[in-house]
Amino acid sequence: MSGLLAGKRLLVTGVITDASIAFSVAKLAQENGAQVVLTGYGRLSLVERIAKRLPEPAPVIELDVTDPEHLAGLADKVREHVDGLDGLVHSIGFAPQSCLGGGFLDASWDDVATALHVSTYSYKSLAVAALPLMSPGGSVVGLTFDASQAWPVYDWMGVAKAGLESASRYLALHLGKQGIRSNLVAAGPLRTMAAKSIPGFEQFEDAWAGRAPLGWNLTDQEPAARACLALLSDWFPATTGEIVHVDGGYHAVGA
Ligand SMILES: NC(=O)c1ccc[n+]([C@@H]2O[C@H](COP(=O)([O-])OP(=O)(O)OC[C@H]3O[C@@H](n4cnc5c(N)ncnc54)[C@H](O)[C@@H]3O)[C@@H](O)[C@H]2O)c1
Repeated sequence: MSGLLAGKRLLVTGVITDASIAFSVAKLAQENGAQVVLTGYGRLSLVERIAKRLPEPAPVIELDVTDPEHLAGLADKVREHVDGLDGLVHSIGFAPQSCLGGGFLDASWDDVATALHVSTYSYKSLAVAALPLMSPGGSVVGLTFDASQAWPVYDWMGVAKAGLESASRYLALHLGKQGIRSNLVAAGPLRTMAAKSIPGFEQFEDAWAGRAPLGWNLTDQEPAARACLALLSDWFPATTGEIVHVDGGYHAVGA
């Protein structure tokens, strides 16, 4: 087996369509020698159909990251397919409509709590659920949208991402002793199902078009996926708690 991830066993969450960032990660990972197990949420038959479009059809395990029973049973279910994990990809985000699109001042705690549970706390829950399968050299990778500033329309999802970025640093702190890394990729805007649920998302699209020094393709998930692969590989052995921007350079330049 050859390739950047030759022989690596990965658990990839977050595939719902073939536009999902996670789908590109799974596809590229297989093309680079990895064995991939997917988790799916909700519409499992849809995820299973999409999983068949990968170079190697991948098994799909049901996982709602807010369901303690799903999390408790995850390691055993993964063991039915692979005998351990070298990498874990968290590509999950959700916020109720009231949390997005300019309603920051009105969103209820219940709705905000849902956003934080699914998008922030789950990063820790997922890593802990998979931990029995991981060993030194293992890598946990998640996806963020640069939370160092407030964005129009992103609202509580932005707060959830700020929490995710902090949670990744704390995971790096707590899993470092076991030789396990935690890093995030901060992707620019991409037209996925999650993005379509954000009212006013086109504001990001326009902003990136005008400002990213390298330009930005809203329908190309591969640059973000490639960065995930690099962080899952052995080529960042001493990097943890890091955020790699894959945004055409947008974050680095002023308007
Ligand atoms: N699309 C963008 O512009 C963009 C930019 C930066 C970061 N991200 C992040 O990338 C990640 C993947 O999103 P995407 O853009 O590929 O969209 P997507 O809609 O394809 O993926 C989101 C996934 O989250 C899953 N999910 C939602 N609730 C869940 C739950 N309770 N349990 C388990 N899974 C659940 C969905 O099933 C879906 O597969 C998210 O964290 C998102 O915030 C997206």
